Amino acid sequence: MGIPFFLLFLGLAGIVVGFILILFLVILKIIVYKIFFRHEIRATLERDPAATGSLVIILTYPGISAFFSYRIAHIFYRLKLHFIARVISQWSRLFTGIEIHPGAQIGKGLFIDHGMGVVIGETTIIGENVTLFQGVTLGGTGKEKGKRHPTLGNNVVVGAGAKVLGNIVLGDNVSVGANAVVIHDVPANSTVVGVPGRITRREGQRVDKGDVDYCNLPDPLNQTLDKIEQEIQKIEDELKDKKPKS
Ligand SMILES: CC(C)(COP(=O)(O)OP(=O)(O)OC[C@H]1O[C@@H](n2cnc3c(N)ncnc32)[C@H](O)[C@@H]1OP(=O)(O)O)[C@@H](O)C(=O)NCCC(=O)NCCS
Repeated sequence: MGIPFFLLFLGLAGIVVGFILILFLVILKIIVYKIFFRHEIRATLERDPAATGSLVIILTYPGISAFFSYRIAHIFYRLKLHFIARVISQWSRLFTGIEIHPGAQIGKGLFIDHGMGVVIGETTIIGENVTLFQGVTLGGTGKEKGKRHPTLGNNVVVGAGAKVLGNIVLGDNVSVGANAVVIHDVPANSTVVGVPGRITRREGQRVDKGDVDYCNLPDPLNQTLDKIEQEIQKIEDELKDKKPKS
């Protein structure tokens, strides 16, 4: 009689202690996020019409959890403890579906909406108040070494599924359309859509399809040099033909 009662008591005590521990961790999480991630919470409240309050954001939004893990992993990365940094980032990826390399440099006010499938490469630099939707890749082209990921200015929005590849610069206030593939620099205050990305709006003005493609402006100097090279080749060929055979 005594032993089963004791076991029951032990079980109930375990449940109560577990509950108190979870409550403590939740309260701690809320306090830490409110102090250190207030910019990200405000950004989410401002940019997500579905966000109902900071408590929901702290406890259920994957973007802010991934950002929290990134901040910790980044500290270890800077201390050159790359293995620990990588472990933290991979655990975070497991739970949030968002992979932020610990070496990336990210400004305040980042909002990752939905999150699943977001990849941010090691040498990426992200300015302030940037928004990334699900499926965004800020990656390398696979051909570069060193700084091989993009640099995003302030207030940049990258639409769902968009890929921004290589060591390119997206200026302030750039919007990247959903599913675009951007591989060239984009000037500030522009909208870029499609594959490959083409600028459709600049400084608030629409850029017509037949208009100048600012990413691929012709280089007159190169064109002239190409022409001269072709001429020289032609002359050399003619001279070869005229050379008397010995
Ligand atoms: C690009 C975007 C930011 C709109 O920017 P905008 O400057 O207002 O552009 P407009 O709506 O005036 O569209 C300009 C042109 O681009 C086209 N366009 C817009 N978005 C596009 C996209 N994602 N892919 C391809 N073309 C697109 C428009 O059809 C229009 O083409 P037209 O000139 O032939 O008529 C927006 O369409 C977008 O893709 N936002 C991402 C949002 C997102 O990912 N949401 C996910 C929520 S879960």
